[in-house]
Amino acid sequence: MTDAPRIHPFHPPKRVLLGPGPSDVHQRVLDAMARPTLGHLDPKFCDMMEQMKTLLRYAFQTENQLTFPLSAPGSVGMESCFVNLVEPGDKVIVCSNGVFGRRMAENVKRSRGELVMVEDAWGTAVDPQKLEDALKANTDTKVVAFVHAETSTGVESDAKLLTEIAHRYGALAICDAVTSLTCIPLLVDKWDIDAIYSGSQKGLSCTPGLSPVSFGERAIARIKQRTSVVQSWFMDLNLVMGYWGDSQSGAKRTYHHTAPINALYGLHESLVMLAEEGLEPRWKRHRHNHLGLVAGIEAMGLKLLVAEKSRLPQLNSIIVPEGINEPQVRADMLNKHDIEIGAGLGDLAGKIFRIGLMGSSSSQQNVITCLVALESVLAEQGWKVESGAAVTAAREVFTT
Ligand SMILES: Cc1ncc(COP(=O)(O)O)c(C=O)c1O
Repeated sequence: MTDAPRIHPFHPPKRVLLGPGPSDVHQRVLDAMARPTLGHLDPKFCDMMEQMKTLLRYAFQTENQLTFPLSAPGSVGMESCFVNLVEPGDKVIVCSNGVFGRRMAENVKRSRGELVMVEDAWGTAVDPQKLEDALKANTDTKVVAFVHAETSTGVESDAKLLTEIAHRYGALAICDAVTSLTCIPLLVDKWDIDAIYSGSQKGLSCTPGLSPVSFGERAIARIKQRTSVVQSWFMDLNLVMGYWGDSQSGAKRTYHHTAPINALYGLHESLVMLAEEGLEPRWKRHRHNHLGLVAGIEAMGLKLLVAEKSRLPQLNSIIVPEGINEPQVRADMLNKHDIEIGAGLGDLAGKIFRIGLMGSSSSQQNVITCLVALESVLAEQGWKVESGAAVTAAREVFTT
């Protein structure tokens, strides 16, 4: 026997989460998660699951019956789409303009699909013409996949148009909505997206670890017509549905895996909060707070990576100016001001900071707090800033 380690309970510091996710979790969500745990087939819990599906359909703006949260993070939502919709040898076009497009490509390879890449520069949107050209050259394409909101750069691509183009050539569209859901307009039925996945920890401001997904009729038909078995037991949608149920058929739920009960209470609460606020007011809140932040950033003499027309309000990429020590800025923001901001990823590592204003974190107060802290941290590194100019610029936006 070894001695029991003498480790005390963990009490995290209170931070303001202004990175690329997770965002700040509202106290109502944390309180919901502390409620008594039920059995995962308890009728009361099953009632809550039905409400959750209704609420998620609202968030995605869809009538899709197959809409539910996977018991895993957004990466598993991504992987589920590929392992279910791609059979070995299927041709898949991935439109990539950042880290998460590349991750999709990796999923195609691992599903043993035939990968065709459509690449755009990091910091720019997916070019619809390039997708159309690739489809013309690959008329046997089965699936087109793209990221609606590329978190690594802060760019929005035109999910509606990319889906339309995919359908014109008979391909299904898989959309990554991990960073877009509830932050910017996303209309799954109107845009006719076939398969979509998101995460609980960004616009929804729940704790990380759940992945809301939705599959339309064409996608379900494709899964049912598969000639090979889905290689992942956990992600095989035919099996998962036995637990999440088909609300229309009224079929009895059967055990698949033990659901993360309390995490699902949290997601339910965050979706109730979404319904209380309303999607359109939430999109407007994100936009308004983004405009305030941008005004402040520009008043400090800093520049944004992304052209105005493609900027995501929930993820702001700021170019690190010459002579500024990027890791030191983030460390000072965290250690001196308790604010988390994000680093650049991949090709943009060391070149940008990423400031997220997602879900509960998207507030005027957070914008002001962040600008005050950033001004002081940059000034300590010798960056010449007119004291208070950033906050004044942001407040001007907020009062209009
Ligand atoms: C666009 C995008 N896709 C997928 C993921 C993966 O989600 P998770 O980290 O929850 O697995 C992320 C996470 O940041 C993301 O931003």
